[in-house]
Amino acid sequence: MNDELKNKPIGIFDSGLGGLTVARAIRARLPHEALVYFGDTARVPYGAKSQETIVRFTWEAIHFLRQHEVKCIVVACNTASALALPAIAGQVAVPLLGVIEPGARAAAQATRGKKVGVIGTTATITSDVYTRAIRALDPGITVYAQPCPLFVPLVEEGWDDRAATRLVVEEYLQPLRTARVDTLVLGCTHYPLLAAPIQAYMGADVQLVDSATTCAEELAGLLAQQNLLASAGAPDETFFVSDAAARFTELGARFLGRRIQAIKVAGAP
Ligand code: DGL
Repeated sequence: MNDELKNKPIGIFDSGLGGLTVARAIRARLPHEALVYFGDTARVPYGAKSQETIVRFTWEAIHFLRQHEVKCIVVACNTASALALPAIAGQVAVPLLGVIEPGARAAAQATRGKKVGVIGTTATITSDVYTRAIRALDPGITVYAQPCPLFVPLVEEGWDDRAATRLVVEEYLQPLRTARVDTLVLGCTHYPLLAAPIQAYMGADVQLVDSATTCAEELAGLLAQQNLLASAGAPDETFFVSDAAARFTELGARFLGRRIQAIKVAGAP
């Protein structure tokens, strides 16, 4: 019975393709696991939506993944992790893992001067969830939070290395540079793709923290602890989107670091 459960896939959910950065980290850390990814491309972005809507969409995605018999669910979307997970935790029959706690832990460990910047979507930053998670780990840390709503469309357009992007980076991050943060949490699935212009503007001594690697590490720990690590089998992968599979395939390769195979369009979740 447990062997059967162990070899079920890990479910990964994001509002769109950004969660592929988390899928990539999970694949690197857990090469033998089967993965089922769901990107809600019909309704992305979540970052400017209300909590009520984000909770509803997240429930629908969880039901969709549960139909695929996943053994656990990773909410790779920072916005859904920040706004929906607190409302949903404890109500799902499989383990649920978000990206906020892993990111907060990585930032609290990385900071030397106890000045941490956090950037994310408007919904994530307004929720204050990152600030509370970091300060719960170390109340001595001062957190400077900044919404960067234009970063997601810039990344989706493939504008990682344009003059316009550098200007937007400067406009958003100027208060954090002035505050001399020594650590900066990339609190959105898309932002690792802007790491180069962000690092260039903030300076080489600022530590960028991205929750994907820490989340994959915590997932490995959780599966080991619950005796749920896959015992055998080929590492199957299926990617579902709710719309526009061709665009997901084209752009997603940059997030995943390789071509996407086996993509399917799901009906409304
Ligand atoms: N996946 C979202 C996040 O990490 C970014 C895109 C969106 O706004 O839906 O916050």
